[in-house]
Amino acid sequence: MPDSAPCRLVVLVSGTGTLLQALIDACADPTYGAEVVAVGADRDSIAGLQRAKNADIATFVHPLQRGADRVQWDRELTALVAAFRPDLVVSAGFMKLLGPHFLSAFSGRVINTHPALLPSFPGMHGPRDALAYGVKISGATVFLVDEGVDSGAILSQAAVPVAEDDTVETLHERIKGVERELLVSTTRQLANCSWHVIDRKVHWE
Ligand code: GAR
Repeated sequence: MPDSAPCRLVVLVSGTGTLLQALIDACADPTYGAEVVAVGADRDSIAGLQRAKNADIATFVHPLQRGADRVQWDRELTALVAAFRPDLVVSAGFMKLLGPHFLSAFSGRVINTHPALLPSFPGMHGPRDALAYGVKISGATVFLVDEGVDSGAILSQAAVPVAEDDTVETLHERIKGVERELLVSTTRQLANCSWHVIDRKVHWE
């Protein structure tokens, strides 16, 4: 996406937003090539939204109520995000699946980050599942979102050794340290380079 204007990022969050904070901090450097133009969440009163407000970034909240029409929710989320004309949408700890309408509106321009080495341990509990399986190496994955669960083409990965005495919390925290750097470096690359995907492989131009 080489262009003189910074790459417009809309970031979606559901929790503490430390990944978002890493992007906000990176974007403070004008040579980074991207700016966070809005932060969306599926719940109110979360630290991630406060981080956006502290940085004077526009926010919106779009909850998915129990029993709600998921297709309608997806269409509304698409419109909320589209209003900010993103070049890239970053799902950074956003704990909802993005639907077909959303993905076709921002086709090939939605990325996600996951606290495990995909395709192992997809879903909501990557660190817990990796620990329970007994792997010695886990890590973080940044990928292009497709209609599956954590199944899109992989952009970047980084490994994190599992310690003997790790708990889900200590392992996840260590992964998040690496994950923040990976998300920042991958977003920089996406903001400043063109890419295409052939047979799941991402090729940088
Ligand atoms: C991150 O580890 C992210 O990969 C994970 O939630 C954490 C958010 O941290 N997302 C998933 O597990 C999605 N399946 P943060 O709120 O501190 O940025």
